[in-house]
Amino acid sequence: MTRKTILITGCSSGFGRRTALDLARRGWHVLGTVRKESDGASLVQEAEQQHCGYNITPLLCDITHGEQIEKLLAEVKDILLAEQPTSRGETPHLDALLNNAGTAYGGPIELMPLEDIRAQFELNVFAQVAVTQAFLPLLKVARGKIIFVSSISGRISVPVTGVYSASKYALEALGDALRLELAPFGVRVSIIEPASSPTSIWRTSLQRSFEHIGDASENGPYVRLLKMAEKSAIQSSQTGFPVQKFADTVVRILESARPRARYGVPFSASLLMTLRRLMPDILWDRLIRLAMRW
Ligand SMILES: NC(=O)c1ccc[n+]([C@@H]2O[C@H](COP(=O)([O-])OP(=O)(O)OC[C@H]3O[C@@H](n4cnc5c(N)ncnc54)[C@H](OP(=O)(O)O)[C@@H]3O)[C@@H](O)[C@H]2O)c1
Repeated sequence: MTRKTILITGCSSGFGRRTALDLARRGWHVLGTVRKESDGASLVQEAEQQHCGYNITPLLCDITHGEQIEKLLAEVKDILLAEQPTSRGETPHLDALLNNAGTAYGGPIELMPLEDIRAQFELNVFAQVAVTQAFLPLLKVARGKIIFVSSISGRISVPVTGVYSASKYALEALGDALRLELAPFGVRVSIIEPASSPTSIWRTSLQRSFEHIGDASENGPYVRLLKMAEKSAIQSSQTGFPVQKFADTVVRILESARPRARYGVPFSASLLMTLRRLMPDILWDRLIRLAMRW
């Protein structure tokens, strides 16, 4: 029997890396994108230590570059055709796609450089669509699964993470429409909405965006807000729910015959999102301003 195959974007670290290793251990063939060869080598090395190196194939791709996605598609087709001899000459099948790669630029909207806002949308929205469009023919053959990685910020927008939220709200809308558009083809679409987890996203993305914003002391009333956001980014990089819970959720979706449309991780994230939906804006704003002392 051929191994089931999943394409995961952003496997150098965090959720993508943990999920790649977890699925490889479970016998999936993981095609994992990375942007640096050294990240691919270290991923395979870690998988080898866990005796599943043969189940991971790292592939180079910056998903914000169309020509790199085309090259990735050609490489994936070659790999699948070699594994699926019956597909020779036909479109090979891909069982699942985990659209995981993403970033989080933060800051008060007034101070954020427009180019950072565009870059946020380029990766968190347009690149997700580009990868999905490219691999859909292969997923349709398999009647496979697509998983988008949104965030609790895809349902709740608060100061400093407004632009990140906007990109994840857009992703939620795309996921909802795609779920319905692809239903007749048997392709299932699910959205994972994680709360904070200690991955490198907080260090690499949020802190970099604080640098772009410049010296907080020049930014008047935003100083306090920026300092609080920086503190919360540092906290998020140390605490939050265990990364393994994310991988467990992906496994749940892949093993389910009828996966749900949405998965809040952990469960308390779902509760918070429900609370936000039910609470009048005026009350919610008061709570957030109290919590952020803003
Ligand atoms: N951690 C959290 O608390 C949290 C909460 C909610 C949602 N999320 C979402 O979870 C997803 C994964 O994030 P993470 O927390 O695991 O962060 P992470 O450790 O920083 O992983 C992000 C991954 O995306 C890759 N990536 C960045 N830009 C890329 C590009 N242009 N092309 C291809 N790959 C690119 C990174 O590769 P490089 O190493 O090459 O940069 C890395 O592998 C993101 O979509 C994020 O929004 C995270």
